Amino acid sequence: METEIKRKRVLSGIQPSGVFTLGNYIGAVRNWNELQDSCDCLFMVANMHTITVRQTPAVLRENTYRAFANLLAAGLDPQKSVLFVQSQVPAHTELCWILDCYTMFGELSRMTQFKDKSAKNADNINAGLFTYPVLMAADILLYGADAVPVGVDQKQHVELARDIANRFNGVYGNVFTVPEPLIAKTGAKIMSLSEPQYKMSKSDPNPNSFIAVSDTPDDILRKFKRAVTDSEATVKRGEGRHGINNLIEIYSIAAGTTPEETENRFDGKGYGEFKVACAEAVIEMLRPFREKTDDLMKNRDYLDGLFRQGAETASRIAERVLSKVCKKTGIIR
Ligand code: TRP
Repeated sequence: METEIKRKRVLSGIQPSGVFTLGNYIGAVRNWNELQDSCDCLFMVANMHTITVRQTPAVLRENTYRAFANLLAAGLDPQKSVLFVQSQVPAHTELCWILDCYTMFGELSRMTQFKDKSAKNADNINAGLFTYPVLMAADILLYGADAVPVGVDQKQHVELARDIANRFNGVYGNVFTVPEPLIAKTGAKIMSLSEPQYKMSKSDPNPNSFIAVSDTPDDILRKFKRAVTDSEATVKRGEGRHGINNLIEIYSIAAGTTPEETENRFDGKGYGEFKVACAEAVIEMLRPFREKTDDLMKNRDYLDGLFRQGAETASRIAERVLSKVCKKTGIIR
């Protein structure tokens, strides 16, 4: 329809740096699903970002397929959204280099993720770790994304993408759309089960700290039973009660209740009972997702076909912005 209001363009990405966690599923992928019908969406597997930390090649390759299969299993639909693998669209790294030249050393030095990651990988503080946010800015700006759904930990990177876009536009006119971060209200931050003051992370060396979407029902039950809570023994949210706050959040999402309903349902009940209920709700939520992922992983040809289709569509869109950038900056293509 010609009269249709222009739909918002949305782009997001997820790294295939391990098996997806419950946090990725709830905080990212599930929210993306809801955007598919109202926005023009692009979702990518950000495998180029992943090599900022050493990877085993065969594992990275496998995880890239698995991440893509996870997106499909979560309900992302290649008929509605553009789903692709970052490395299959070379425009990302081309634009990244150009944007490197419009990003300041000082800005990158202030990124909290860089500071955290360089503390954790003190023996491998490579330049990619430093310029990581510039590649992310390229991912976003290439597609003229209006909105970028991310977890709170990535907000600073989206803000840097805005700064880079504004700086470039200030010199060359309106080339880039200036993106907004889109932070989901629920599930934006699912915390670790063993150290609930920190985010649940798939790269955490302690496997009991996170639920992987591939965990068996037994694993899930065991991990919830061990989840760190506190000595108050009431299923009520409260300031500083990181453990129980997190479990209430997880249960509510998995069981489809509000946090208030969850508190009422478990009023007077102990942590033991509540933890088992959390495990059961999560097992049921993840079951169809896990089965679908396993099916897709057996069908590489099908996934390769979707990779190709996604990369073609994404490249076509990216090409418009990249050629404009090259023209403006005097780069011959
Ligand atoms: N850096 C993001 C993360 O680790 C993943 C990512 C890469 C991304 N490129 C992106 C997210 C572009 C949003 C937009 O979570």
